[in-house]
Amino acid sequence: MSNGLEDVVAAETVLSDVDGLAGRLIIRGQPLEALAGRSNYEAVLSLLWDGFFPDLPTDLRQPLADARMRVFELLRADLHLVADRPTFDAMRALMALLPDGTELDSALLLAAAPGVLLPALLRLRDGEEALSPDSSLSHATDMLRMVSGDAPGAELARALDTYLVTVADHGLNASTFAARVVASTEAGLTSSVLAALGALKGPLHGGAPGPVLDMLDAIGRPENAERWIGAQLAEGERLMGFGHRIYRVRDPRADALKAALQRIGKGGAVDTGRLALAATVEAAALRALKQHKPDRPLDTNVEFYTALLLEALGFPRDSFTAVFAAGRVGGWIAHAKEQAATGRLIRPKSRYVGPMPKVAA
Ligand code: COA
Repeated sequence: MSNGLEDVVAAETVLSDVDGLAGRLIIRGQPLEALAGRSNYEAVLSLLWDGFFPDLPTDLRQPLADARMRVFELLRADLHLVADRPTFDAMRALMALLPDGTELDSALLLAAAPGVLLPALLRLRDGEEALSPDSSLSHATDMLRMVSGDAPGAELARALDTYLVTVADHGLNASTFAARVVASTEAGLTSSVLAALGALKGPLHGGAPGPVLDMLDAIGRPENAERWIGAQLAEGERLMGFGHRIYRVRDPRADALKAALQRIGKGGAVDTGRLALAATVEAAALRALKQHKPDRPLDTNVEFYTALLLEALGFPRDSFTAVFAAGRVGGWIAHAKEQAATGRLIRPKSRYVGPMPKVAA
């Protein structure tokens, strides 16, 4: 038995490869560095979905924009039913209402949904009206516009694109595995994506970036970093934004996001005090983790810079996991299609360690 299925190969995939020793992520033959900051989300969706839908258009910008409009029309009347729930839970509840097909139409609605529902829910929570999508815009641009009400500058839209691309797929992580388990039963794409959303929510997976900001707030000033971190580790607490099941070196996605943050920082969109604090905390955390767990390399993961980037883009911290879903949904759908096309029903065994029935004398 492998607790946590560590090192177990449970699927063959053409979608992405995570090399934890080299700190390298490949998405359909391309290193992350060739995509992040260079391709937009629609282009990476095309890359991930290629070969899984017979009618896939070469350019997904308009189909995805049209899907945003349809999601809004389909679900706008239901928004108020869940608007007082935590954002992620409200988004998940609304996505459950989407049709559970296996075709491109279902895939596009699911891929579009977080980008429409999250902004709408954030605005309703602030007592404002949800904005209708604009089908002339790119996905990232429209998503930012629907949050703030204003068209974002090109650099900010590029930064969100960088984020969505960076997190679009990442091997057999917990949420992607959950999506594949459900797809292996021949349930539809909505069921697969809902399973994945449930797995993503936890703080050991997609729920970490909000708590990264809580940590920065608790530390407050660079000179407090070492003491605060030492106390946390002494109490047996984990530092959010560090450590990974696969990476034994720095997560390459952290660098892609740090670069995006620095780019928008030049335009004045990032609080420089915040950045300086983050740099000190990162360095202090790495030193402390090395001392605390000398046998387990624990480095910066994707969530540390996710937190800073999404904060700079104007997303509230309790919405970060939903923004993560807006990117990863493309990968979940590709994996669900791949599993349905090439895999078998996923049905592992458990070892029974409970009591046995008493044998009659
Ligand atoms: N801070 C402090 N200690 C950590 C740690 C962290 N961020 N990450 C792992 N460790 C410690 C564990 O406590 C464990 O110690 P133990 O052997 O004394 O129990 C040891 O390192 C191995 O951890 P393990 O839980 O086996 O690693 P994993 O592969 O199951 O976990 C994560 C990977 C991501 C869940 C884990 O590193 C973590 O909880 N990180 C913080 C949350 C986070 O940033 N999540 C986002 C992931 S992208």
